[in-house]
Amino acid sequence: MIPFLDLNEVNAPYLKAIEEASLRVVRSGWYILGNELKSFENAFANYCNAAYCVGVANGLDAITLILMAYEFPEDSEVIVPANTYIASVLPVAYLGFRPIFVEPDPFTMLLDPERIAEKISSKTRAVIAVDLYGRSCEMEPIMKLARQHGLKVITDAAQAHGAIYNNKKTGSIADATAFSFYPTKNLGALGDAGAITTSDEALAEKIRYLRNYGSLVRYKNDYQGVNSRLDEIQAAILNVKLPFLDLENDRRRAIAARYLSEIQLENLILPPADRINDDAWHLFVIRHPNRSGLIAYLDANGIQTNVHYPLPIHKQQAFREFYDMHLPITERIHEEVISLPLNGVLTDEEVIYIIQTVNQFDYQQ
Ligand SMILES: Cc1ncc(COP(=O)(O)O)c(C=O)c1O
Repeated sequence: MIPFLDLNEVNAPYLKAIEEASLRVVRSGWYILGNELKSFENAFANYCNAAYCVGVANGLDAITLILMAYEFPEDSEVIVPANTYIASVLPVAYLGFRPIFVEPDPFTMLLDPERIAEKISSKTRAVIAVDLYGRSCEMEPIMKLARQHGLKVITDAAQAHGAIYNNKKTGSIADATAFSFYPTKNLGALGDAGAITTSDEALAEKIRYLRNYGSLVRYKNDYQGVNSRLDEIQAAILNVKLPFLDLENDRRRAIAARYLSEIQLENLILPPADRINDDAWHLFVIRHPNRSGLIAYLDANGIQTNVHYPLPIHKQQAFREFYDMHLPITERIHEEVISLPLNGVLTDEEVIYIIQTVNQFDYQQ
């Protein structure tokens, strides 16, 4: 069986360095907010071409802390893509704001800049642009529109470390960008971890307070913060893996390029091929009207797939107040998407086998 993602294999080349780094932290006696975190924050800010990076506990908290730091009024609305992972939207609801769902571009499946303007009201304060599957949103029109209406732009780049848009790295474009280093991500820790990048000094400073109970000096609390810190062991592991992120992404790009040029199957829709070397290819998401048939066929032929995601947010029990919303593009995407294995440890033989197997799928199956 070709697994969708084997984390043992992904981390194998780094194992020795990870063991050494972890042991160094264990022996240091300093486990929270120390030098490993400082050095990762500097390195990741540098990697993203952002002025500041603040490490936090996970990607969900990264989005939450950005929204908290902006201190929007209570009845604020935040524009969110309807096609995304639920973690992009939970922070909006958690803080008492109203998520305003926007249908995606049917081709890229990402937030459609053309559909944002009609959703802006006097209560709108921010747009969350999610670089889903590893591809940057169309940031130029999104930033332009946001500037015209005085809105903040937050990028959720949990899936897009190293993605590029118009020669700029994700993490350096929006007002603030949230990253997750969940173990399956392009840059994955061995536990939960996240970060925020921004070029707004005041915002970075405020998030440093908020992630630590609202405090920078022990027992002096300037804000009502939370506990959301990226611990030293995870930071040390990320310090080991970050220097290889571009190499890992290049391997993903090479595999994506092969899939895009060699997968040929009637009724199958491939992801956009216009930015092969700029997208981070966290996921390779194809669409097929007979999804269950294709998944069962691939499984029977030893290829494990995944669905990102099977049920849209507005159809989830957690967001039942939005259940009656009609979002046909989003709903159709959720019925048709399949993620093929795509990661840095797939061999050429496996890639060829996946291509040949997909190409031989019989629609009637
Ligand atoms: C698009 C997106 N946003 C946010 C998150 C949340 O990240 P985390 O799991 O680190 O909280 C994830 C990943 O889980 C994600 O894929």
